[in-house]
Amino acid sequence: MDFLELSEKRFTAKKFDPSKSISAEDFDKLKKILQLAPSSVNSQPWIFLTGSSEEAKKRIRPAVADFNWPRLDTCSHFVLIAVRNGLSDKYQHRLLEQETKDGRVANEEAAKEIYDGRQYFINLREQVGETLNWEKKQAYIAMTALLYGASSMGIDSTPIEGFDEAAMDKVLNLDMYGARSVLLVTLGYDAEDDHNRTRPKSRLPQEDIFYDLDKYRG
Ligand SMILES: Cc1cc2nc3c(=O)[nH]c(=O)nc-3n(C[C@H](O)[C@H](O)[C@H](O)COP(=O)(O)O)c2cc1C
Repeated sequence: MDFLELSEKRFTAKKFDPSKSISAEDFDKLKKILQLAPSSVNSQPWIFLTGSSEEAKKRIRPAVADFNWPRLDTCSHFVLIAVRNGLSDKYQHRLLEQETKDGRVANEEAAKEIYDGRQYFINLREQVGETLNWEKKQAYIAMTALLYGASSMGIDSTPIEGFDEAAMDKVLNLDMYGARSVLLVTLGYDAEDDHNRTRPKSRLPQEDIFYDLDKYRG
């Protein structure tokens, strides 16, 4: 299936078939997809908290808006996407260490260039108090990779902003990870009676959203 077909096929599942579970092998693939998501200056500002047990679902349920409970209660797995409370110098060294290990850094000079380049962009955001916002943008990229990656494997999903972030941070003790919650994604196999499955997609027409700069120069 090409990416356009996938884009037409993927939809937001409103409830899942609770009798169907994502295999461990498939969930490992989803984790790999998240790990490989791109981020600005390779900052990878995220951590992912995953769960599938009733106990894990119960733990986060009070933080989730009640209209989203049918997704959480019936899903096979969930992924809570969180971002780090700032991108410290220590963390930037950790990134460089990994890049070196992975063979991305040719020599000391290249290491300095990479480190300084990344720090420049991190400082730009820090100076205007935009670090968290910038990190959150990267979290949405990871979410998107997960939604389409899952769909390519026949796995349905729900992107969820509908939860109380402060409450989620508390129930998951995110302070301990030095992070805060941004997004929740529930995953599984859509329930047969999910009305959203057969609902037509609705998007604004292309003439409302595309402007061809080869034609319009005004
Ligand atoms: C960032 C984001 C947050 C969303 N939050 C919720 C949510 O809390 N609950 C829900 O049922 N759907 C949620 N949605 C699903 C959207 O309503 C849905 O993507 C949109 O209506 C388009 O439908 P489609 O995904 O089926 O194409 C969210 C989608 C995105 C991208």
